Amino acid sequence: MGKTRAVPATLITRIAELVTNEGDLGVYTAIENAALVIEDGVVAWSGPSSRAPAADAVIDAGRRAVLPGFVDSHAHLIFGGERSAEFAARMAGRPYQAGGIRTTVRATRAASDAALRANLRRLADEMLAQGTTTFECKSGYGLTVPDEERAVALAAEVTPEVTYLGAHVVPPEYTDDVAGYVDLVRGPMLKACAPHARWIDVFCEDGAFGGDETAAILAAGRAAGLAARVHANQLGPGPGVQVAARADAAAVDHCTYLTDADVDAITGTGMVATLLPGAEFSTRHPYPDARRLLAAGATVALATDCNPGSSFTSSMAFCIALAVREMKMTTEEALWSATAGGARALRRTDVGHLGTGARADLILLDAPSHAYLAYRPGVPLVAAVWQAGNLVAGSPRGLMSLRLAGDAGPEGGGARCFQFGVRPPLRGAGYARLDQVQAVEQAAHPRVVAPGHPAGG
Ligand code: NIG
Ligand code: FE
Repeated sequence: MGKTRAVPATLITRIAELVTNEGDLGVYTAIENAALVIEDGVVAWSGPSSRAPAADAVIDAGRRAVLPGFVDSHAHLIFGGERSAEFAARMAGRPYQAGGIRTTVRATRAASDAALRANLRRLADEMLAQGTTTFECKSGYGLTVPDEERAVALAAEVTPEVTYLGAHVVPPEYTDDVAGYVDLVRGPMLKACAPHARWIDVFCEDGAFGGDETAAILAAGRAAGLAARVHANQLGPGPGVQVAARADAAAVDHCTYLTDADVDAITGTGMVATLLPGAEFSTRHPYPDARRLLAAGATVALATDCNPGSSFTSSMAFCIALAVREMKMTTEEALWSATAGGARALRRTDVGHLGTGARADLILLDAPSHAYLAYRPGVPLVAAVWQAGNLVAGSPRGLMSLRLAGDAGPEGGGARCFQFGVRPPLRGAGYARLDQVQAVEQAAHPRVVAPGHPAGG
C-alpha cells in the first residue's frame, strides 16, 4: 500500500460500525471504530481504526456506519406500463390475483426495446443509489419466444444474475392449451433464453403452474445448464417448496404459506428461503413467519421482488424495515439477510460481506449504525456507494472528507483534504472512479482544508 498504482489504494477510516459478515458463520458480524482498505476493487484489509495501514487516499467516514452493498436476489425489472390503479383498488379491499401479470404482459409486448431498456436502467440506477450493488433480474412479462429472449438479453446488459421466467403465468393465447405452453417454455423458449441466463424460475401457484408442470420445466432448465429458483407458497399453501427442494433450487422465494414439511424441506436441503415483505405490504397478505424459519435453522434472504404488480419498491432499506417491524427479525438478522443472505440465494461468495478478498461493494450510511435503516424508515440514509471499489453513488447528504496522501504538507508528508459538501449526486450513468470524484471535488472545493488531517480513529 502507499505505492503509486493505476487505481490507488483507499483507506476508509473512522467508521463507527463496519458490518463485515466475515467468515462462513452465517451470522451478522461487525467491528466498531473500524477502518477498511480497498485495493484493486476488493477489500484488502479491515480492522480497528487505530491499526489502519497507510494508503494512497483516505476517506473519513465521520463516525458513520459502513455496510456491505445490498444483494437483491429477486426482482422483475423488464416490463412495460404500470399498475397503480390495481394497487389502489387492493388498498380499497380488492384481493391480489396472479392474473394481473397478464396486464403487464400486454404492455411489455407492446413496448419497444428502447422503452424497456430505459425503464430497466432507471430501476437499476434507482437500486444502485439506494445501496444495492448486486441484483437478480427475471424475464416473465413477454411469454413468447422473442419477447422472453429480448427480456433476458436486456437483463444481461445490467447484471450477470439473469433469470429465465417463461413460466410466470400461462399467457391468454394458451388458456385452452396449458400443456402446449409448458412445452413451449421447456422447449424452444428455453433454447432461445438459456444462452443469456444463469437461472430458471417458475411461479408455482394456483392460477400459475402446478407442481408437476414446475418440476418438468425446472428439469428442462437444469438440463440446459441453468440452476433453479422457485416462486413458491406466495398466495396459499402448495407444492412449490417440495418441488424446489427436489430440483436442487438455490432459493425458494416468498414462503408466505408453509407447512412443517415445507420448513423441513428448506432446512434439510439448505435452500435459501427468500422473504419478500414488499409483496405482503402491497397485497395485504400476512407477512411470512421469519421467526419460525430462523428457529428451524433456515438460511433467510430478504429481497424486494421489485415488479409493477405485487411489490413496486426497489428499496432494500424498506424491506429491512418491514422485516424488523412486521416479521420480528432483529436489525442484525435483517441486515445479514439483505446482504449475505441474498448472496447465498445467488450462490455468490464474493459479495454480501466485507471479508478480505470480497468485492469492495459497500455503503456509507448517514447514520452511526445499521439499525437506523429500520429505526428511521423511509429516510434516504445511503450517503455513498462503492461497487468493486468505484464510488458509484453519493448524495449531497454525504458530507465526508477525502485526504490525498503523498501531497506535500507542512512536514512534507501531509495531505490535501477535501470536504465533501453539497454536490450533485454522482450516480446513474456508470462507474465514477475515485480519481474522477477527486477531480469533481477539486473543482468544487479547490482549497486545502486541513493539511495533515488525521486519518486514524
Ligand atoms: O413475485 N409471484 C409472481 N410474480 C410476481 C408478481 C408479478 C406481478 O404481479 O406482476 C411476484 O410477486
Ligand atoms: Fe417475484
